[in-house]
Amino acid sequence: MIQLLGNTRTKEYPVFLNSGAAFQAGQLWTSQGHKGKAVIITDSNVANLFLGQVEKAFTSAGISVKAIVVDAGEEAKSLAEATRLYSELFRMQIRRRDAVCALGGGVVGDLAGFIASTYMRGIGLVQIPTTLLSQVDSSIGGKVGVNIKEAKNFVGSFYQPDMVITDPALLKTLPRGQLVEGLAEVVKYALLSGEEFFYALESGYEEFLMLNMAFVEPMVRRCIEYKLGVVSEDERDYGRRAVLNLGHSVGHGIETAGNYTAYSHGQAVALGLLAAVRISEEIFSLSGDYAARLESLLRLLGLPTRLEGIDPGAIRATMSSDKKADDVSANMVLLKEIGEPVINCDVDPALLSREIERLAQGG
Ligand SMILES: NC(=O)c1ccc[n+]([C@@H]2O[C@H](COP(=O)([O-])OP(=O)(O)OC[C@H]3O[C@@H](n4cnc5c(N)ncnc54)[C@H](O)[C@@H]3O)[C@@H](O)[C@H]2O)c1
Repeated sequence: MIQLLGNTRTKEYPVFLNSGAAFQAGQLWTSQGHKGKAVIITDSNVANLFLGQVEKAFTSAGISVKAIVVDAGEEAKSLAEATRLYSELFRMQIRRRDAVCALGGGVVGDLAGFIASTYMRGIGLVQIPTTLLSQVDSSIGGKVGVNIKEAKNFVGSFYQPDMVITDPALLKTLPRGQLVEGLAEVVKYALLSGEEFFYALESGYEEFLMLNMAFVEPMVRRCIEYKLGVVSEDERDYGRRAVLNLGHSVGHGIETAGNYTAYSHGQAVALGLLAAVRISEEIFSLSGDYAARLESLLRLLGLPTRLEGIDPGAIRATMSSDKKADDVSANMVLLKEIGEPVINCDVDPALLSREIERLAQGG
């Protein structure tokens, strides 16, 4: 069992990483000195797959366990659902020494984490992420929260878990589309980390798609270690944590212009990464032919490399603070070299527009 360390100003916590680790959850929890009850919060899909085994893992370690199942999907990340869950926890007599265990993807992790951070002003939290995105990204770093109708992730807090149990074998039941969503973030970490990681992904991408654990586990580990390192320096997102937004400014523009339906988050980030790398080549003369290599890697992974069905002008407009397409300027994360991100880069509006047009032209 690999044990990594989350280390922030507010908390130190272990991240256990191993195939099969989820089904040792109770033993891992008690090994950290915890004794209280556990309430597993999960969604309807994940409940069908893993809830019984995870419940058993807690009871066999002598931990009393209950479960709450929410509907699968982003709609569960709401204040209305949170309110329902607070009452459920109260009815179950959950108190300060007890813990919430988030068993699911980023939706469950964000919602259950938010509940844990606010119920009785904070109770224990175990994250057991079950999607690739949640294993490499959302379960690490302590950002928890819910959506409001006006905006996503607008209400929440920073609340580090007491323990994360990352079990890559759980990814085997994930639909291919969901796996590919997470791969967009893995590619982001590779660009942030350096040539070695990028090359490993380029040469082993098929192993990832086939979920060969001997390949997937070390890849997931690299992503977690990168994020833990960034978060330990900048838990509250005032500075360096912004590197994690590589690809996300153009990506967010694409998601918004496509009304969150034309492109999924991962697909939009893939296109955003391509734009960021091309702009990095222009501004920093980024060496190593990474735009071409990235384009081919994204294609091999099943991620888009060409923008279709959205007017590039609409993307520029959503990225412009005053909504005038010709007055767009962007504060982007770029790469000076691979593995050397630079935050707060002001990009010439004309260059940004050109690169968004180029995405639409496909090359
Ligand atoms: N807190 C953060 O730092 C952070 C970072 C990135 C994203 N997020 C949030 O994460 C959310 C997206 O997370 P996601 O992509 O994991 O989506 P998700 O949680 O909706 O899961 C995607 C789908 O996969 C199903 N599923 C989960 N695990 C499965 C498994 N092992 N096998 C089969 N099906 C499984 C789920 O039921 C769901 O239908 C968004 O709400 C986003 O805002 C948070």
